[in-house]
Amino acid sequence: MKENTAGSNISIGVFDSGIGGLTVVKKLREKLPYVNIVYLGDTARVPYGTKSEETIIRFATEDTAFLIEKEVDLIVVACNTASSVALTHLRKAFKDYPIFGVVEPGVKMAIHATQSNSIGVIGTIATIKSHSHKKFLEREGITNIFEKACPLFVPLAEEGLSEGEIPELVARHYLEDIKDHIDTLILGCTHYPILIKTIKKVVGEKVKLIDPSSALAAKVSDFLMSKNIQPVEGNGKLDLYLTDIPPHYHSLLNLFLGFEPDTIEKVNLSEISSC
Ligand code: DGL
Repeated sequence: MKENTAGSNISIGVFDSGIGGLTVVKKLREKLPYVNIVYLGDTARVPYGTKSEETIIRFATEDTAFLIEKEVDLIVVACNTASSVALTHLRKAFKDYPIFGVVEPGVKMAIHATQSNSIGVIGTIATIKSHSHKKFLEREGITNIFEKACPLFVPLAEEGLSEGEIPELVARHYLEDIKDHIDTLILGCTHYPILIKTIKKVVGEKVKLIDPSSALAAKVSDFLMSKNIQPVEGNGKLDLYLTDIPPHYHSLLNLFLGFEPDTIEKVNLSEISSC
């Protein structure tokens, strides 16, 4: 990792199972506008959240190897599913690189927010099955934990169906039985911030919603400060690599990112050597 240099010399590699991780890129851009970002969205193989542990680890390893070939300085695993299932493996396989996951920052933010010590976690099937948030929360002394997989939120967000009758019905289906037991809810999936208004409507004003991406961006920023990486004027580059360019990618970029990347390129991960 470079030290004592201008932020414009730093490149952060971010990966996600698809487009959803751009919600994390947005927060990184707000916090660290001057760094360069190389984003890999594995759009050809999304979703990860319904896959086995073995497959998620293999995909996450290939994603990380790709970003390292692009000469990034550190890796951000924006995907909650990959952070939950593959982070330990990635840190062993790519020892020389700082690798940041999204689970721990979200958990810390939730612990800070809760007053009743009763916390809900929603995520993909694989994330909830891994109990990654629960394990962290328990280590911090929280024992009232309510977990719920909400797989239908992902296609709803990608359809841009963020408000109205249909998402509200789905949100009630998932959240009705946990909402009265919690005062804080971790949005443990990159897609869920798109549905934040509907989730808020269903769980009520008294439940605080935690989007881990801002805490993750703050953690990366603290790390760069500790390496004496200096802020500079202007925006860094955002290079987007996708393993498939879906027909509606323009509307997805608009929904999840809200600004134009500098470059977009389709890549084939099977051409990359991985660990
Ligand atoms: N990016 C994934 C996550 O944050 C959601 C989509 C998927 O299932 O791959 O867990």
